[in-house]
Amino acid sequence: MCAYIAEAVLMGKVIAIVNQKGGVGKTTTAINLSASLAVMEHATLVIDMDPQANCTSGLGFDPRTVAHSCYEVLISTVEFMHAVRPTDVPNLDLLPGNIHLVGAEIELLAEEFRERRLARALHKVKDRYDFIFIDCPPSLGLLTVNAMTAADSVLIPVQAEYFALEGLGQLLNTIKKLRRHLNPRLDIEGVLLTLFDARLRLSNQVAAEVKRYFDPYLFKTVAQRNVRIAEASSFGKPALMFDGTSTGAKNYLALAKEVLAKNAALIQQKSVRSKSPPHMVSTSGVVHAYSSSSTGDNARFQD
Ligand SMILES: Nc1ncnc2c1ncn2[C@@H]1O[C@H](COP(=O)(O)OP(=O)(O)O)[C@@H](O)[C@H]1O
Ligand SMILES: [Mg+2]
Repeated sequence: MCAYIAEAVLMGKVIAIVNQKGGVGKTTTAINLSASLAVMEHATLVIDMDPQANCTSGLGFDPRTVAHSCYEVLISTVEFMHAVRPTDVPNLDLLPGNIHLVGAEIELLAEEFRERRLARALHKVKDRYDFIFIDCPPSLGLLTVNAMTAADSVLIPVQAEYFALEGLGQLLNTIKKLRRHLNPRLDIEGVLLTLFDARLRLSNQVAAEVKRYFDPYLFKTVAQRNVRIAEASSFGKPALMFDGTSTGAKNYLALAKEVLAKNAALIQQKSVRSKSPPHMVSTSGVVHAYSSSSTGDNARFQD
């Protein structure tokens, strides 16, 4: 365990954002959580593993014209950092995705160690970042398996809608299999309730159901339905760079604090190494103080 923490301290934390359902807030969470951690002065990378590349466009890049993408990193034709781009958010980098990722699922099938392509490529650059998020496609195919093999933990967004829990049993089984065969240290970072509307009885019912099923993995923070979130994405910005006072921006800043609290031990040691000061960040009207002294356990889902 100590050896694992020591490695993670040096390497930064890799969190795959996974749910095989589309439209549950994976990409929105990847963009806004990573941006929140970045403005809190944590070196952060987002990897867009989805051929739809919404994360890439949501951070202001045109997936049709990016020079290199995650696809080329997976098939080893381009060095990892050669494909990475800095974004307009300070401390936030992006490994873009594009439509070529569709082909990766098939092309990698014949390759040796096909599930470990991302893990191998990522290993060389993990020490550059405090947090690395992987925005996964809406499937449990080879791209998502690569993400979960490279990850320390998974963050599962669950939409506060009908059939919210549908498919989650299959996802948890996949995580168990991953642990058995490819990545024994894979944790559950947490379950995030998304697109929550407190005015709707349905949202509240689903919230109660998700809590019953997933407590203690459920984040206290809930991502409320907020039109500024969707607007910001269409302008290629995280919500906090678009409207820092919006509910969406505040929700994801609160989630970032929760993630930091859960990883306090790792981050504290990493910041001691880099001698970085306590963080006090002002962004778009939101003055945000963060102390890394809070504690939290990284919940482990039992087999
Ligand atoms: N908190 C939110 N408030 C309003 N709209 C949201 C919120 N979260 C996500 N959306 C919108 O819902 C849609 C699906 O979200 P997205 O993050 O793309 O899901 P996924 O990546 O799981 O497919 C997008 O149009 C997005 O802008
Ligand atoms: Mg998406």
